[in-house]
Amino acid sequence: MATALILLAAGKGTRMQSDLPKVLHEIGNAPLLHHAMQSAAAISPTRSVVVTGHGAEAVKAAAQIYDPEVDVVLQTEQLGTAHAVEQARTALAGFEGDAIVLFGDTPFIQPETLEAMLEARTKYAVVVLGFEAADPARYGRLVTQGDTLERIVEYNEASDEERAITLCNSGVIAADCNVLFELLSEVGNDNAAGEYYLTDIPELAHKRGLTAGVVRCDEAETLGINSRAELAQAEGIFQTQMRRKAMEDGVALQAPETVQFSADTVLGRDSVIEPNVVFAPGVTVETGARIRAFSHLEGCHVARGAVVGPYARLRPGTELSEDVKIGNFVELKNATLAEGAKVNHLSYIGDAQIGASSNIGAGTITCNYDGVLKHQTEIGARVFVGSNTMLVAPVKLGDDAMTASGSVITRDVPATDLAVARARQENKSGFAVKLFEKLKAIKAKRQKDGS
Ligand code: UD1
Ligand code: CA
Repeated sequence: MATALILLAAGKGTRMQSDLPKVLHEIGNAPLLHHAMQSAAAISPTRSVVVTGHGAEAVKAAAQIYDPEVDVVLQTEQLGTAHAVEQARTALAGFEGDAIVLFGDTPFIQPETLEAMLEARTKYAVVVLGFEAADPARYGRLVTQGDTLERIVEYNEASDEERAITLCNSGVIAADCNVLFELLSEVGNDNAAGEYYLTDIPELAHKRGLTAGVVRCDEAETLGINSRAELAQAEGIFQTQMRRKAMEDGVALQAPETVQFSADTVLGRDSVIEPNVVFAPGVTVETGARIRAFSHLEGCHVARGAVVGPYARLRPGTELSEDVKIGNFVELKNATLAEGAKVNHLSYIGDAQIGASSNIGAGTITCNYDGVLKHQTEIGARVFVGSNTMLVAPVKLGDDAMTASGSVITRDVPATDLAVARARQENKSGFAVKLFEKLKAIKAKRQKDGS
């Protein structure tokens, strides 16, 4: 059956103390909004509507990055969760199927939980996701008879008996889309907060002779982010989940708690990740590759059997083929390295292509930037670049070429040629001893003069 997602993301998040709208704060280098959209992706919504308010333009742009097809609507004033859902009415006019409402600041709802809710829809007209709260605090309370949900009472409106209930409202709710909007028309704001509460829906359903029920999930799934401290806590939970999942998928993490993941990090089976490695967004590492300690990777692909680090930095656009070796203090950017190429020590390789089995000597730098424009360096197969070579781009080195160490290469080097581009050495006979004597004499005179 078709399902429409309605994602509430209009809130300001006052307690974040931030200029950024709350749902754009990140865990695993991805906005909270994307995590919520990712949870919903498991139920393959045919339509998605994001309700924006604070920072609407930025939230809209972020939503469209995740899903270019998304509908974005604006809630100009934040008059409550029911009022927020109401804003999706026009966008979903004529939609036939279920609607499910999620909060944009709740990143951990599991796919199975949403599936269970849609399944429970065969029994109940309205399905609410609830959880047993260790500390129910100010959550809305679910008043139930078995699994039948009589009504939801907001903390502010609740009696002492109702406040004693520990089964709480997560905020996630599912119903037939048309039924939901019919019931929404009846929600008023005659309550302590003067807000339109989405939580009025189950009781309104009963008044029409419709049923409402509860699906329960673990409290951890319903964690909502309201403060910097909760964001940091969520980051920790997320990292733990990513590490556990990587290990379940066959990745060797030598010190799991020291490895930082992004939401989109992909690591192949039998890859080995040494301690203190950071995966910024956009990294894929294939089977059997090894990322050695203290390396930082972003926007790059590491093929089978490649070894990276320790202390390597792979920046966006880096593409390492099979069995490439990248050593310590090497920075790569926008660089393609063919099979078996090696850059083992202290180098910067940017805007470059390096052919198979080429060896780039220690201290080599591609001088890719002239202060205004970026230029390409092209290196063929089996090239030997001597230590401390400056490759002043644009420049090409043909297959099987060589550069003498310390060269400043400003012109192309044809295949099989050796390029020497440095001052010729001259040895002055006995000059070292004479120079030492002269220098010692100067020092002695200075000491005598007391200077
Ligand atoms: C809501 C529920 C409460 C539940 C709790 C779980 C209501 C009335 N109460 O309370 O039962 O236990 O969540 O965390 O639904 N939003 C808008 N526009 C608005 C108001 C809210 O987009 O006008 C968005 C917020 O950005 C947020 C979400 O809806 O993502 C929830 O709103 P919030 O004000 O945090 O609701 P709670 O008071 O926490
Ligand atoms: Ca909240």
